[in-house]
Amino acid sequence: MLHAERQLQRRNTLRLRSRAAALSVIDSPADLERALAEARQSGLPVLPLGEGSNVVLAEELAAHVLLLRLRGCRWLDRRGLLRVAAGESWHPLVAWTVACGWRGLENLALIPGTVGAAPVQNIGAYGRELAPFVHAVHAVRIADGEPVSLSRAACRFGYRDSIFKHALRDRVVITAVDLQLSRDLPLEVSYPGLRDRLPAAIEAITPQAVFDAVVALRRGKLPDPLREPNAGSFFKNPVVSLEQAEDLQAACPGLPVFEAGEGRRKLAAGWLIEQAGWKGIEREGIAVHPRHALVLVNRGGDSAARVLALAAAIAESVRARFGVELEIEPRCYGSGP
Ligand code: EPU
Repeated sequence: MLHAERQLQRRNTLRLRSRAAALSVIDSPADLERALAEARQSGLPVLPLGEGSNVVLAEELAAHVLLLRLRGCRWLDRRGLLRVAAGESWHPLVAWTVACGWRGLENLALIPGTVGAAPVQNIGAYGRELAPFVHAVHAVRIADGEPVSLSRAACRFGYRDSIFKHALRDRVVITAVDLQLSRDLPLEVSYPGLRDRLPAAIEAITPQAVFDAVVALRRGKLPDPLREPNAGSFFKNPVVSLEQAEDLQAACPGLPVFEAGEGRRKLAAGWLIEQAGWKGIEREGIAVHPRHALVLVNRGGDSAARVLALAAAIAESVRARFGVELEIEPRCYGSGP
């Protein structure tokens, strides 16, 4: 139903001051149908929002915001195929699947946000991404309310990327995700720092132990959005050519470099930002986190313009110092890229 309260500051984890032109809470498919019809009538663009953990919202949003609260979770078969509604919270889902003995999602513990938002940026952490566990994504088209389903291949997943950021950007509202879990998938524990927190004997490592280790690692490094408002990694790790990575490594010993496919390498943006001198710096109430330079924290600045000004200054200095382009990771609505 159409909501009188249109303030979004409590509905985005960066806690940016923002007001929507219209806002509907979506508790059912009927609510969604109604809200899309209203948006078509008003001519406002539709902005679906989960927990608001990967967005930068401008102060005035000329959009009809849909707060996706669709709930529910059911097994589609006995072999780990699970349908989860878009409004379910991601971390409790991971905790539950791991506790039930299913493997696949354990490395993705404690990632903020909803299930419906997860495929958009193909969430990933500690050597795992969501993509291989997606069987299908269900959505409705904004233009006409028709349901559409996409197979994993159709989602065109990449590093922090999917079709929902390109051809289907602003075209669909994700309503559910089908996940394929496993009973016997080998665990992924090769990420630096993760292996050290687990039993020495590989056979003794359980999915629950991996989950617990990831939770501990994240709690140690990444700020809790409830205490220090943030949107996780603010930049993607830049992917460059093998030649550029080798040149940079020769010039900057200690630069962390990871495989990123044939002839490509991924650089640690947090390292580049720290080396450029930004760690812990605060401007106009927005800070580069003192423990993790990839995370920007709102300390009272409260506005998208201030967040994006700091991000632009960081990107500019990394470009000047290393010749590397940083790309903003969260989606910016109503301002910026
Ligand atoms: N590093 C620094 N200084 C910093 C931060 C990092 O030197 O201030 C170095 C670290 O020492 C390490 C390397 O950079 O050698 C990588 O750091 P880290 O392991 O913390 O991971 P990340 O590359 O910064 C990515 C994801 C995170 C995910 C972690 C763990 C992206 C954009 N970010 O961060 O995802 O949790 O790996 O897998 O890919 C998110 O997307 O919001 C997010 C938190």
